[in-house]
Amino acid sequence: MKVLIFPNATDAAHEAAKIIAKKVHEKPKSVLGLATGRTMEGVYRSLIQIAKQNNLDFSQVTSFNLDEYVGLSASDKQSYHYYMQDNLFRFVNINMNNTHVPNGVAADLEKECAAYEEAIKQAGGIDIQLLGIGDTGHIGFNEPPSAFDSRTRCITLASETRQQNAGMFEGNPQKVPSKALTMGVGTILEAKELLLIALGKDKAPIIARTLEGEIGPEVSATAVRLHKNVTIILDQDSASSLKQQ
Ligand code: GLP
Repeated sequence: MKVLIFPNATDAAHEAAKIIAKKVHEKPKSVLGLATGRTMEGVYRSLIQIAKQNNLDFSQVTSFNLDEYVGLSASDKQSYHYYMQDNLFRFVNINMNNTHVPNGVAADLEKECAAYEEAIKQAGGIDIQLLGIGDTGHIGFNEPPSAFDSRTRCITLASETRQQNAGMFEGNPQKVPSKALTMGVGTILEAKELLLIALGKDKAPIIARTLEGEIGPEVSATAVRLHKNVTIILDQDSASSLKQQ
């Protein structure tokens, strides 16, 4: 496991973007695992900038997002479909037919999850998976406890998570959907490479717990320590509670 600590959030996000850009440059048919949330906004901003400066070609890239709220459609401004369009897809030449986000309004959610797993397999697996981390230690929306062999499924969100994500819902946690579809921890661990980013003081306790605490399903992010090719990108604030720096 590589842990890289940067002086500030901008530099940390830029490093993450550079790693993704390098992957796309080296393998134009890359399968990218993408994530959402405030942390990724800076990563995508940098990635768009790098892409513009270097004429980076996304036309053959395939993408799979980690998760989506149940009950929100692609046109819903709070959906992760919308987020991806707004923060990345419309700024690069990715073929929208090759982008995938779980469908939170599918008639049969179980079928949707199974089809999502199958689509990842058909694409040859994920080359690099971007990950943020929630206050509960979730990656994707894998709330505690999430088995390390869990697959894409429908999950009930922890109240802490609805609180954390209330910003997009008029500050009201009750308005945050109570359920989401998420890749499982097992699905995430099958990616060839993992890239976890955490920024800011609020993430310091969960980062310390993730990197220095006991590995287990109570903190799904601890699973990344079992992966052979993982990079953790932090700023000084998110790294501030680590015993070893
Ligand atoms: C949501 C997403 C997670 C993400 C987390 C972190 O809960 N489902 O995948 O890691 O947000 O959010 P932020 O970057 O806004 O702190």
